[in-house]
Amino acid sequence: MATIIGGIASTHVPAIGKAIAENKQNDAYWKPFFRGFDFVHDWLARKKPDIAVVFSNDHGLNFFLDKMPTFAIGAASEYRSEDEGWSIPVSRPIPGDATLSWHLIDALVADEFDVTTCQEMLIDHAITIPMKLMWPGEWSGETWPVKIVPISINTVQHPLPSVARCFKLGRSVGRAVEAYPGDVRVMIVGTGGLSHQLDGERAGFINKEFDQLCLDKIVSDPDALTRYSIHDWVKLAGSQGVEFLNWMAMRGALTGHVTQVHCNYHIPISNTAAATIVLENHAVAANAAA
Ligand code: DHB
Ligand code: FE
Repeated sequence: MATIIGGIASTHVPAIGKAIAENKQNDAYWKPFFRGFDFVHDWLARKKPDIAVVFSNDHGLNFFLDKMPTFAIGAASEYRSEDEGWSIPVSRPIPGDATLSWHLIDALVADEFDVTTCQEMLIDHAITIPMKLMWPGEWSGETWPVKIVPISINTVQHPLPSVARCFKLGRSVGRAVEAYPGDVRVMIVGTGGLSHQLDGERAGFINKEFDQLCLDKIVSDPDALTRYSIHDWVKLAGSQGVEFLNWMAMRGALTGHVTQVHCNYHIPISNTAAATIVLENHAVAANAAA
């Protein structure tokens, strides 16, 4: 049976890709952020995941405002990155695990999540940046160390799914992964956030106090976060701060007893309060999910 080893949440700001390409990891601006990944590299080397289920939001590469699925899941054996115009080098394709994708699709639809299935899906900075941060050496090698199953959540075109709904989506994915017959080690990833707003009168908005509450509650009491409406969230975290929906889905997929083993919070990275967390998932008796 598959094992869910834990979850990682990471910002996905495109400027990080440019900093990596220009080898600026040790510059004063970038160092406190990149050093926050030292622990992640060590953790991944110890935990050796086979597959990453990645919750993120598409930024107009697959879906635009005219056609916007609330939840879409990749079912491909390879995901290509495209030039998005942020001066980020296009990374090599990432292999997908289509068998796990179809298993998750079957389980999600049976669980009344009527997802859009994508047998072709491009990947943008919301996936490539966290992947390059997690595996800085390997991304330029022959292969990536994991296969992925990308799950896209609409954080762009209102109405957005609620915080509670995304948490439940994660729960459904977590149950399905646990029931997967393959002997594989699965990690769950949530990308984006924390507070940020890229446009309008509040461009540059960051809310440190609310970010700290999110970082605390996502570990200890994620249900408390499901009580906020999307409009509250936009007010408190900014119009792009709603990318935290990806983090909630990641947390929902951790079905066991959850502990935090790492957290790095740094302001600013571009327009964003950047945060990285690593959560471990400890199996508990059936039906006693934390
Ligand atoms: C930035 C943040 C994002 O979430 C994004 O998708 C693009 C850019 C930024 O802060 O620059
Ligand atoms: Fe984004």
